[in-house]
Amino acid sequence: MLFTRGLSVGYDHALVSNIDLDVFPGDIIGIIGASGIGKTTILRTLAGLIPPFRGSLEHSLVKNGELGYIPQRLGLVRHASVEHNVALGARATARKPPAGTSNRQWKATVTREAINAMGLTEKTREPVRRLSGGQQRRTATARTLAQRPRIILADEFLSELDAENVEMVFGAIHRLVKEDGSALVVVEHNVERAFRYCTRVLRVRDGRLHPVQGGESE
Ligand SMILES: Nc1ncnc2c1ncn2[C@@H]1O[C@H](COP(=O)(O)OP(=O)(O)O)[C@@H](O)[C@H]1O
Ligand SMILES: [Mg+2]
Repeated sequence: MLFTRGLSVGYDHALVSNIDLDVFPGDIIGIIGASGIGKTTILRTLAGLIPPFRGSLEHSLVKNGELGYIPQRLGLVRHASVEHNVALGARATARKPPAGTSNRQWKATVTREAINAMGLTEKTREPVRRLSGGQQRRTATARTLAQRPRIILADEFLSELDAENVEMVFGAIHRLVKEDGSALVVVEHNVERAFRYCTRVLRVRDGRLHPVQGGESE
């Protein structure tokens, strides 16, 4: 559903080169690597937010609204409620409501389900700026769940979460990937976690993206 050939990413110079990446339905791909090495730049390029530095990037089967991006800096509307922020995801979806359900009704349901799945039911009407860092991350994840994308690109979205919340957030994403046949590409600074949750782990090093086997150390 997402393919790159000889893709280089970067701003004024290439940070990571010759990326040949195939993302298939059901994939959970972890990208690890040192800080400042270009992981976020890879994700932003895959999301279409910055142009490829060189080479090609193809989103097949992915229409508008079918790609969900969870940025490292969350981009939430801070003065607005959790509900408002999550509803923005529901609004961006490419999906159609089931027969017999009005669009409005369905989006309200999808929003509520995503909020519940992220354990934020009690915070529904709370302005985002009053939430903890972890709760804000869960709000951003709920926004993406409500969008029901085919591909989720998530940048260190488990940061600031305690172990229990990591399980909850990852469990919800896992279900979405399995039920919808979607895919997840996640930048993860915690290497052990990447191996635990991902079906494939890639490491950025020396300007290249290398496959890593489970258990392989630094
Ligand atoms: N908008 C930008 N313009 C130019 N350089 C940038 C920009 N954003 C990030 N960089 C630089 O690109 C490099 C890689 O950054 P980034 O992809 O965020 O790394 P990582 O996510 O692996 O920590 C850094 O040196 C950073 O300063
Ligand atoms: Mg980063």
